[in-house]
Amino acid sequence: MSLVKRLAYVEIEASDLARWRLFGSDVFGCEVAAESTADCLKFRIDARPWRIMVSRGDKNDLKTIGLEVADQSGLQEVCTRLEGAGHAFRLASPEECAARGVYEMCCLTDPSGIEVEVSYGGLLRPQQPFCPAVGHGGFVTGDQGLGHLMLVVDDPRQVQRFYAEMMGFVTSDYVSTKNYGGLAGDFIFMRCNPRHHTLAFGRLPIPRRLGHLMLQVNRIDDVGLTLDRVHTHDFRQTRSIGRHVNDNMFSFYVESPSKLQFECGWGGLEIEPDDTDVKLFDVTSVWGHKHL
Ligand SMILES: [Fe+2]
Repeated sequence: MSLVKRLAYVEIEASDLARWRLFGSDVFGCEVAAESTADCLKFRIDARPWRIMVSRGDKNDLKTIGLEVADQSGLQEVCTRLEGAGHAFRLASPEECAARGVYEMCCLTDPSGIEVEVSYGGLLRPQQPFCPAVGHGGFVTGDQGLGHLMLVVDDPRQVQRFYAEMMGFVTSDYVSTKNYGGLAGDFIFMRCNPRHHTLAFGRLPIPRRLGHLMLQVNRIDDVGLTLDRVHTHDFRQTRSIGRHVNDNMFSFYVESPSKLQFECGWGGLEIEPDDTDVKLFDVTSVWGHKHL
């Protein structure tokens, strides 16, 4: 089992929060948490107080990844490994932990420059059930965490080593394709729970760290209903509906207000604990996912 258990939350820095509110709630079906302010949107997709924070700024990119370990000894082990590798980190103050809704955490920067927070004791609010703005059957979270991230990094192998050695992530497979929207693409997919991948790394010619964030819906119809709302609210669909070759995800992609892509998926593969073989593919999708 991986030391890090799941993706807990992400923070995105964005300039157009009004458009993000529409995108998150009216298109994707997230709930806008009551604690949201004019400069900070907090989106809920389950019993957590929030899972996606969109804070005002010029970056228009992913700012922070929140990863979760099981308990205090898990956090201690991450710190010990970082210390042993000479990788800088600091323990967060009680105020910082309260702002994230976690019991304890450490903060660091990964080799690609992304801020990472590793925590345990994420706040749960079952007394406030998830209440989406549109009719919605909910999202696959729980033990599988928030979803998955494709990160654009300069040196995928270096980042892969870091997440394997410091956090315990396991490599699921590689995709090495000659045609990713007309370009060659090499991607590494890593898991930390049954979800086929929580983090994927690739080198792409785009000027940001976030390739895409995938949220997985419980009902296949919510993929189609979300796609209908993408067009109703004039957002740009970037990839057609398709089925990914490695995680089996039935999904499409859309451009968020910060030009960051979101994937709306259903039916993602859960890897059995005894399936330890690393696989290799030369396409990203069995069918569809045409770059639009
Ligand atoms: Fe994806």
